[in-house]
Amino acid sequence: METDHRVHIGDSRSLAELAANSVDLVVTSPPCPMIEMWDELFVSLAPSVEQHLAAGRGREAFEAMHTALDSVWEELRRVLVDGGIVCLNVGDATRAVDGSFRRFQNHSRIATAFDELGFEPLPSILWRKPTNSAAKFMGSGMLPPNAYVTLEHEHILIFRNGTEHRQFEPKADRRYSAAYFWEERNQWFSDLWTDITGTHQQLTGDETRDRSAAYPFTIPYRLISMYSVYGDTVFDPFWGTGTTTLAAMVSGRNSVGKELESGFEAEFEHSIEDIQTVTDRIVATRLSAHETFVERRQAEGETVEYEADNYGFPVMTKQEVPIQLFRIMAVERDGMSYRVEYEPVGPDWKAQINRRYHDSN
Ligand SMILES: C[S@@+](CC[C@H](N)C(=O)[O-])C[C@H]1O[C@@H](n2cnc3c(N)ncnc32)[C@H](O)[C@@H]1O
Repeated sequence: METDHRVHIGDSRSLAELAANSVDLVVTSPPCPMIEMWDELFVSLAPSVEQHLAAGRGREAFEAMHTALDSVWEELRRVLVDGGIVCLNVGDATRAVDGSFRRFQNHSRIATAFDELGFEPLPSILWRKPTNSAAKFMGSGMLPPNAYVTLEHEHILIFRNGTEHRQFEPKADRRYSAAYFWEERNQWFSDLWTDITGTHQQLTGDETRDRSAAYPFTIPYRLISMYSVYGDTVFDPFWGTGTTTLAAMVSGRNSVGKELESGFEAEFEHSIEDIQTVTDRIVATRLSAHETFVERRQAEGETVEYEADNYGFPVMTKQEVPIQLFRIMAVERDGMSYRVEYEPVGPDWKAQINRRYHDSN
């Protein structure tokens, strides 16, 4: 199997380089209106933002910033296939404007914009951000009523492009082999993710992550596994350091990214140096977690009824029988395009993965 990935530098308010219906899934994290680190960017996209902020007109500044993002959402409607999914990570902002502290509800403004464009809103996810520092409380200390709750979560808004589900060719292997495990489904399709910490998130350096507001790798990896199949193209119109592309490469999907600022590509290059090892680790973690799950279930006297076609272990449902994971064998770069080659991971997956490390020593 092979996948293709390309990155465009430019403004996503026009996606002229993408044909209509050329994207199967969008996974993205836009700059969040009214969060100060993005003020300068929004002024460059919508100059009226500067006057509104200077004059203390918070509502108007918020609206002007969102109007700039609306143009991107409109383009998504065109490039996404019918029934294609958009997963959009966004945080609300809290800010004092003209002496008044308040919340700016980015998630509800964006949800309304998508609904009005004809996307169907689907149940969404809240994820709790890993905190490195003690929570900061704002307001009047221990005295009621003027202290404020700390926002420690972000939203993953999910929309379908139009009213119909995506259509697949009958018996589409690329869909059935992209199945996930029953126990993964139970965890991933919860509307509250509190486990976004851990090992395969820190693919990029801390400094760049702060500057780019990169999201943890697990977020796009999980969303891509949940909402796309092999052969699909995943698009991120706010590419940043390319976390979505990394996740698409690891999960064996094609990708396209677009980013306004040039300069993050070097960071991306650095991140993909380890992509084979990272993919091996993720594949091994998923398979061994499944083995542990099966052992525990069997020890509790429960049956695990089906047998996976490509692995020597049982699975809970018929839909999991054709599951096939892949590992990366080579990455070729040509400018801002990449081609990735894979091999299927088979029943002797432990030896197959270990061989790479023994052979290279
Ligand atoms: C929140 S960051 C995305 C971070 C990314 N998910 C990652 O993991 O690195 C938003 C990105 O969108 C870019 N951006 C903002 N406005 C844009 C526009 N109109 N077109 C393309 N990119 C834009 C910013 O430069 C920034 O890199």
